[in-house]
Amino acid sequence: MQYAIHRFESVTSTNDIAIRMAEEGAPEGTVVVAREQTAGRGRRGRSWSSPPGTGLYLSVVLQPGLTCEQLWQMAFVASVAAAEAVGRASGLPARIKWPNDVLLNERKACGILVEARKPSARGGQPTAIVGIGLNVNTEEFPPEIAQTATSIALELGRPVPVAHVEDALLASLDARYGMYLAEGFAPVFQAWKGFDCTVGRHVAVDTPDGVVAGAALGLDSEGNLVIEGEDGVSRRVTAGEVILRGSV
Ligand code: BTN
Repeated sequence: MQYAIHRFESVTSTNDIAIRMAEEGAPEGTVVVAREQTAGRGRRGRSWSSPPGTGLYLSVVLQPGLTCEQLWQMAFVASVAAAEAVGRASGLPARIKWPNDVLLNERKACGILVEARKPSARGGQPTAIVGIGLNVNTEEFPPEIAQTATSIALELGRPVPVAHVEDALLASLDARYGMYLAEGFAPVFQAWKGFDCTVGRHVAVDTPDGVVAGAALGLDSEGNLVIEGEDGVSRRVTAGEVILRGSV
């Protein structure tokens, strides 16, 4: 993939800028990077704390030829790329918590938000805007995430250049997306499972329909998490925030 990188000092959200560029015809590989976001967005209507210069805030325009229902696969591509890049840039063992949170030492260092734009032309495929937020040198977090967030620098004990992490991330994303285009989702899913720290744990998932607790048994082919409750009944969870507990 040929990247065209657009850099900004401060934006509301890099996803906002990338969506606008995609709507104006920007091609696949368009990347928006900002030093700061004033209205960074997270999943499930949350905000993403984005102070200037300490984190990587980046959005990539992709056109993988998927339907809107299949675009979740791009979040898996991105989380594998991010976990790999964190490992390469820092030497730290990054893990992935379902669906796409990248953790260091069980705390969240990176989040992914994929947004879709329907094609304007009839018969076209939707465009995916893949937003990645990575805490690189962040040392302080808002109180509501202070106990659950971390950064590469906090875990490593020294800062690393944000540009170095960006290079690693874009290289990994290119490799994993290329793999996805050439071989389909299976090898990416396999790589995701290699980073996963959710399956085999007792979990509580805060879903839109309430909390589902039990043993995380695995993922189905649509990326949903299968949880066996204490009543022995297996439930599929399609979205939510996982709280990890002990091993099964
Ligand atoms: C999450 O809730 O875990 C997803 C966080 C995604 C944050 C990134 S930062 C770059 C891009 N722009 C945004 O506004 N959000 C994403």
